[in-house]
Amino acid sequence: MAINYQERIPNNVNLSTDRALQRALEHWQPHFLDWWKSLGPEGFQASDVYLRTATSVDAKGWATFGHVKMPDYRWGIFLADQEKDRTIGFGDEYGKPVWQEVPGEHRAALRNLIVTQGDTEPASVEQQRLLGQTCPSLYDLRNLFQVNVEEGRHLWAMVYLLHAYFGRQGREEAEELLHRHSGDPDNPRILGTFNEPIDDWLSFFMFTYFTDRDGKYQLKSLAESSFDPLARTCQFMLTEEAHHMFVGETGIGRIIKRALEVMKELNTDDPQAIRKAGAIDLPLLQRYVNFWFSSCMDLFGSEKSSNAATYFAAGLKGRPDEATFEDHILKDASYDLTVPANEVGVTIESVPARNAMNEMVRQAYIKDCMIGVTRWNRLIKKAGVDFEITLPSSRFRRAVGPWAGHHTDPQGNPISAEAFEAHKAEWLPTEADRIYVKSLMKQVIEPGKMAAWIAPPDRGIDSKPVDYEYVKLH
Ligand SMILES: [Fe+2]
Ligand SMILES: [Fe+2]
Repeated sequence: MAINYQERIPNNVNLSTDRALQRALEHWQPHFLDWWKSLGPEGFQASDVYLRTATSVDAKGWATFGHVKMPDYRWGIFLADQEKDRTIGFGDEYGKPVWQEVPGEHRAALRNLIVTQGDTEPASVEQQRLLGQTCPSLYDLRNLFQVNVEEGRHLWAMVYLLHAYFGRQGREEAEELLHRHSGDPDNPRILGTFNEPIDDWLSFFMFTYFTDRDGKYQLKSLAESSFDPLARTCQFMLTEEAHHMFVGETGIGRIIKRALEVMKELNTDDPQAIRKAGAIDLPLLQRYVNFWFSSCMDLFGSEKSSNAATYFAAGLKGRPDEATFEDHILKDASYDLTVPANEVGVTIESVPARNAMNEMVRQAYIKDCMIGVTRWNRLIKKAGVDFEITLPSSRFRRAVGPWAGHHTDPQGNPISAEAFEAHKAEWLPTEADRIYVKSLMKQVIEPGKMAAWIAPPDRGIDSKPVDYEYVKLH
């Protein structure tokens, strides 16, 4: 369905036919804008940014591009088209018609899922609000803002569901989404990782590669939901999310490319020499990968989860690409988990498959993460450099699930606390790494110019040249 841009809130849900809902959302809109102006990107609210906006929700040409001031961005409500006669794809209600309204018995669980997802969207905008001040180029600055406005739109996507389907409680939750703030000691964001500031660009690219991809897998699971409006909302969010991970993958790829150039120029792989030339050495990059990947592992929840089993049984949250599986009910199936045993041992524990849902989603995520890693390694190999970026084991540095509190090496072998401490500086970013990365963060805003630690992109955005004035600063 085409998007109606004539209304105060752009939408493709016929908002004007439901006066009460429209009024409620129009009441929330200025609160959202106040939040954006006070906690969105700092220092650029008056800049003209070359942004894309959705014009329709189909795969062809969904975007138009143009310079807009971010507070004037047309945030709206865009659902993927309704699939005719869609039926429930998994769980105990398999094959029955999907729900257009929230079933009473699943109200609390669905509200919870929507609020938790919704909370991460504005959280990431808050985490990244200072990054513009140290952007490596105008091209990157524009990409940061594109990600930020779309996370803002994802908040709209969840707030619409809360308003439209959860009554007064939903409206209260929508207000709360603007009242919790990333890192606020009194009223923090729901998930721990979303309370850590992202104040350097290496972390931003890691976040968009690894953490936004966790978002992708959460959305893919929710896009299978029997609650049809949630499924349709998440489907469209996924098309936006793809760009965020592109930013991460190409950002890290360009950092690697720059490191390889410097290594070739100087004919060395000595990290200190590479740092002296202003680039980021590959071992440092690997430590950041280890850190970000392992914190994302926890976002999927515990390997064994009765909540996840309940969500699956009830048809609330499925597996990504549920249609590609054979058994959609998993009533008697089991799943083998590798869990810690004794001090430094490993054993297999067989659990009901429904209880291992988080682990199945996590494994699909890991496979998806490998695609970019393989591309980065191809660059490194092509340059004739003997180094391989690897993803650590899903057991490494866990704070959630059976591996929490157990030390392992990056390959996942259990080790003692002393051995972990002794190797920590090889495996995880050190204070010196962080200080070095911070020292590189200087704003570059001349069109086409790049900071010394990152190579230019292969091409610009929307067929524009790399030196296009993607952000007009005022
Ligand atoms: Fe998002
Ligand atoms: Fe995202």
